[in-house]
Amino acid sequence: PLQARVDDLLARMTLPEKVGQLMQLDGQRVYRDLIRDFNVGSLLHINGSDADAAQAAAAQTRLGIPLLLADDGIHGHSFWAGATIFPTQLALACSWNPELAREVARVTAVEMRATGLKWTFSPVLCLARDLRWGRINETFGEDPLLLGTLALAMIEGYQGEGLHDPNAVLATAKHYAGYSETLGGRDASEAELSRRKLRSTFLPPFERAARGGAMAFMTGYQAIDGVPSTANRWLLTEVLREEWGFEGILVTDWNNLGHLVNSQRVCADHAEAAALAIRAGNDLIMATPEFFEGAQAAVARGLLTEAEIDAVVRRVLTLKFRMGLFEDAGLSDPERIRTQVGCAAHRELALRAARESLVLLRNDPWQGAPLLPLDPSRPRRIAVVGPNADDPDAQLGDWSLGSGQMVGPSGDRHPREATVTVRDGVRSLLPAGWTLVDSADEADLIVALVGDRVAYNGEFKSTATLELQDGQIEWLAGLAALGKPWVGVLINGKPLVLPPALQAVPALIECFNPGMLGGQAVAEALFGLLNPSGRLSISIPVHVGQQPVFYNAVRGQHGDRYADLTQEPAFAFGFGLGYGRVEYGAPSLDRPQARAGETVSVQLELHNPGPREQVEVVQLYVEDEVTSATWARRELKGWERVCLAAGERREVVLSLAVDSLWIVDAEGRRVVEPGSFRLLVGGSSRDQDLSALSLVVG
Ligand code: IFM
Repeated sequence: PLQARVDDLLARMTLPEKVGQLMQLDGQRVYRDLIRDFNVGSLLHINGSDADAAQAAAAQTRLGIPLLLADDGIHGHSFWAGATIFPTQLALACSWNPELAREVARVTAVEMRATGLKWTFSPVLCLARDLRWGRINETFGEDPLLLGTLALAMIEGYQGEGLHDPNAVLATAKHYAGYSETLGGRDASEAELSRRKLRSTFLPPFERAARGGAMAFMTGYQAIDGVPSTANRWLLTEVLREEWGFEGILVTDWNNLGHLVNSQRVCADHAEAAALAIRAGNDLIMATPEFFEGAQAAVARGLLTEAEIDAVVRRVLTLKFRMGLFEDAGLSDPERIRTQVGCAAHRELALRAARESLVLLRNDPWQGAPLLPLDPSRPRRIAVVGPNADDPDAQLGDWSLGSGQMVGPSGDRHPREATVTVRDGVRSLLPAGWTLVDSADEADLIVALVGDRVAYNGEFKSTATLELQDGQIEWLAGLAALGKPWVGVLINGKPLVLPPALQAVPALIECFNPGMLGGQAVAEALFGLLNPSGRLSISIPVHVGQQPVFYNAVRGQHGDRYADLTQEPAFAFGFGLGYGRVEYGAPSLDRPQARAGETVSVQLELHNPGPREQVEVVQLYVEDEVTSATWARRELKGWERVCLAAGERREVVLSLAVDSLWIVDAEGRRVVEPGSFRLLVGGSSRDQDLSALSLVVG
């Protein structure tokens, strides 16, 4: 019956009506005109009463086809003032907790549905590489396994029980593919990627998303080897649909089609571009009004057949029918908005996410004992100072109202009180007898909040350096010179180079963008109500000249060394401290040899000798000793987040499937090559934190 409904509707549509169904235009413009002038089938950046009015206008058209409405719910319902804003993906990834990511996505879906939306452009599956890239904050960091696992969890969280779940939205795996492999970190520059490199590192997370049921994909901006993603039939059709079996909807990024004509200049006009994009496999063309005339001209000029257009319209209509849009377009619900959006339970989850995402990078002794946690019984005059001490926008980061590119339909912002800054958090938890003074000079304990702000993060906002900006380096030097105990707290969209003062600060916490409740989580960590458990999802460099620096680099000859600079990062992937230290027993392997299809187990004992509960993220890496083609030096293959009570000893078992030990050979095939492997278990990707075992695959 569903196909019969699609066939019946399609048979009644004119060519302009069909083309309109393939268009996704900016809902912040006058949507009634868009519906009238283009028969538009989808809008983005629209919600609430505007979304309802747009659906009502669509219902008045000749065929009354409902709109597919989408928005960027990136770390929370980004475009809704008062929505719950969670840590950014980069921060959330430091929790190494897929269940948490799933819950964050589920709550975001609930808030989006309340405001009339059924589709989000999240998660981002770009692998962090050159940190100068402005969109590092949107990534899950530098490891394909961590990224793929968290992305899949978010996709499942967004999509819930499926297309008829009243609390679910379509998820979008983006930006497909290789967008992060930029030249010099500059956004949307041509990516230097071979198909082998794509299949080795950049495509595997997307493959998991497609096979795991992601309902939408978005094509990247850039070109790979001369072919813009939007025009890449191999990527969009042969790999995504034919090889991985993707049956969802493929949307371009913003005006990708126009860029084929105006920037990348691989097409002479929009008719050629329309033909190229449709033939490559795109379904919805985002933010290119010229597609309307262009696609019709393409048919008139014989560049595209109407049957080819029909095939794509069929996919769009099928999705609309499957989603039940014709029965219920999914209007916003004032009661749900009142009770669910930004509600206490959702904010509690944002607090949990911030708590699990904080990474304690250093906690050195100050006068004989670690500076953190602060001893509440010893009253102090504490100053919480610095540019990010009390700046909600910096804390929330990109993709949240009021920050950078983000403005609501009528200039909306989140209410100030919705965000707990670090200064707010410290004030609310101030122990008896403590005072909060305004300046470092008056204080006997300083918490310095530095980092970056949204001007240096996001689309179009790549940076040439990774230094702290706007006088922060000098300001920190002055602070250090006071000789007082002090804690550095970083709130930043991406890893930054630590200036000399922060290299010597006794205690240092990395938050990235920790979301609305981030300030409370930091205050809890300072006062010992929270024992930090985050682990870096990305390396922190010592110098911008190291770019790119990531732990899973491909083995080279002298390629990893400079004459004038170490290639070791300041802090490595997987690193993070707690207030105690968990002891690792010697690991063992259940057998020394294994074959394809088998799973081996690594076993070890953890011991928490300390007086407080401690979370440890046990990490399992693999090194393939000899590979027929050059391959990553070391790869994460699994991890376990373990919570140990004070004094507890616990056996931990990590499983490793032999089939996961694949490489991509020189012919581009995924193969597990027989031979020796080193298995490395420990608390970070650094050599000194890992113990080795041997496995022979035969
Ligand atoms: O979803 C985004 C994408 O990540 C970047 N360009 C604009 C799109 C829609 O806002």
